[in-house]
Amino acid sequence: MRGAFITLEGTEGVGKTTCLEFVRDTLAAADIPAVVTREPGGTALGEIIRDWILKGNHGRLSAETETLLMFAARAFHLDEVIRPALDAGHWVICDRFSDATVAYQGGGRRADKGWIQSLRAAVHADLEPDLTLLLDAPVEVGLNRIRTREPDHFERENRDFFARVRAAYLELARDEPHRIKVIDATPSLPEIESRISGHMAAFLGVFSR
Ligand code: TMP
Repeated sequence: MRGAFITLEGTEGVGKTTCLEFVRDTLAAADIPAVVTREPGGTALGEIIRDWILKGNHGRLSAETETLLMFAARAFHLDEVIRPALDAGHWVICDRFSDATVAYQGGGRRADKGWIQSLRAAVHADLEPDLTLLLDAPVEVGLNRIRTREPDHFERENRDFFARVRAAYLELARDEPHRIKVIDATPSLPEIESRISGHMAAFLGVFSR
């Protein structure tokens, strides 16, 4: 049986990385080791694309070019890491996946969402995440949390950009409530972890059956 594919999503500063570690630890406690990876990235090529985009020394990068680079990195990541791991029965936890392209390039940059969905189908019609945890917080909360670090290509965007990203994520969650679980990222960490635990317990009950 193939392993489960879990993704984490959210706008900047919602605590995605901490929650990802919690998900990994929850699985480890259930005796399920997982491959942890990220997008863009997860392969040598993907990390080069990530570095190049995030450093942001590229003048004007169109929404379409950005989208295609994300999918190029993703196609290779799927071939090299994600599909082989799942096929070998391992679980995979990925920090962002195609929902991020819909939210950031579709919502934030206003690239055509129908076109993004057709790229999504072209690159991985055979595979979608089994569970997506979407950490959600008002834009101001996230932006305040990242204020002290040097902003990357996306973090330099304004509040309206992130409001569009957040709205696009929430629209995806409304369309796919069984897959995408929205988690309020504003309470204390133990409270957030307790909510994640609830979703993980329900998912483990269904997926491992
Ligand atoms: P992060 O690893 O800190 O989340 O940074 C990755 C950045 O890349 C984040 O700002 C979101 C952005 N991104 C996109 O714009 N589109 C995508 O498809 C993915 C995977 C990430």
